[in-house]
Amino acid sequence: MEITLKNSKERLLHLVKQFKTELSPTKTLSEIENIYKQYSGKKSYLVNISKSVKELPESDRRSLGQEINKVRTNIDDLYHKKLTDHQKNEIKARIQKEKYDSLRPLALQQGTLHPITQMQYKVEDVFNIMGFQIVDGPELEDDKYNFEHLNFSEDHPARDMQDTIWTTNGKLMRTHTSAVQARTIEELEPPFSVIAPGRCFRHENTDASHENTFHQVEGMMVGKDISVANLIYVMKSFLSVIFERDVIIRLRPGYFPFVEPGFELDIACLLCDGNGCHACKFDCWLELLPCGLIHPKVLAIAGIDPKQWSGFAFGLGLDRLVMMDSKIEDIRHFLSGNLRFLNQF
Ligand code: FA5
Repeated sequence: MEITLKNSKERLLHLVKQFKTELSPTKTLSEIENIYKQYSGKKSYLVNISKSVKELPESDRRSLGQEINKVRTNIDDLYHKKLTDHQKNEIKARIQKEKYDSLRPLALQQGTLHPITQMQYKVEDVFNIMGFQIVDGPELEDDKYNFEHLNFSEDHPARDMQDTIWTTNGKLMRTHTSAVQARTIEELEPPFSVIAPGRCFRHENTDASHENTFHQVEGMMVGKDISVANLIYVMKSFLSVIFERDVIIRLRPGYFPFVEPGFELDIACLLCDGNGCHACKFDCWLELLPCGLIHPKVLAIAGIDPKQWSGFAFGLGLDRLVMMDSKIEDIRHFLSGNLRFLNQF
């Protein structure tokens, strides 16, 4: 067949189409390379067509040469695009595979929040909604905040009730979150409402309801004319949300040097509604938390004028609240590290 400019250009056009058709289904790198070599390598179809340039009249050679260059660029572009797509797909597939491989063990080992932490968050949410701020204090405390500023003089007999763990440098592990109460009233200007959740430590002989490391939530409200009525209202509202029902409470006298009057707050047994059962030892009442009106002396030590301001405070035992809520018979489960126990929550 005679070689003309026209049929050479047609061959070139066909070559590109053919290259596209053959390149499209290739999957592996070697398939892509092979096709490319056939069309644009040293012994390729394109090189064959290039050789025929010299058979054309002088006047057509330049035009075909330009067309061949265009086709080479076109084939190169298609090849590079295919290579890039191929690499992208490879990376995607690898990520997919590795994601799957690394997610599987993670899913198996996923933990949950400790039941006491869960209850702490719940308590914080309820008090937050009632306008209480959350404050914090150190676990390693000074005698000043754990006792002195709370109206426990140096030789006060009530100090003995707290089984204090002392450190060799004269500090102590706080025995109650009331230490945060002492710090906070010194820092804040009334009126204020705060809660302070945290760990406490006592040198206890442990039993089903006593641990040496346990959790309390201290709460207090200081303002004008704060009375026992405010205390009862806040406690009732809080407990009704936590136990998801109306609760009946009563106050009995209780002694703490930093409150006057001081109370033990009991709730009517949630299991028998006051008819008597084993949970409440047929007493129908469960002791829940100590509380009272902040002693005027404590306010005065913190620089708050007790003639102008008054307040209430309470100290909720979080561990015992969880025990009551989830019917756990022994406090020592909490820090046992026993996964069979913890996995239930
Ligand atoms: C106090 O610690 C006072 N600071 C509470 C307070 C605050 C009174 C504000 C008045 C005003 P008490 O020692 O009773 O009080 O402890 C309070 C609660 O902490 C107890 O009702 C109990 O739920 C919990 N608790 C105390 N000791 C332990 C312990 N060893 N193990 C587990 N929970 C404990």
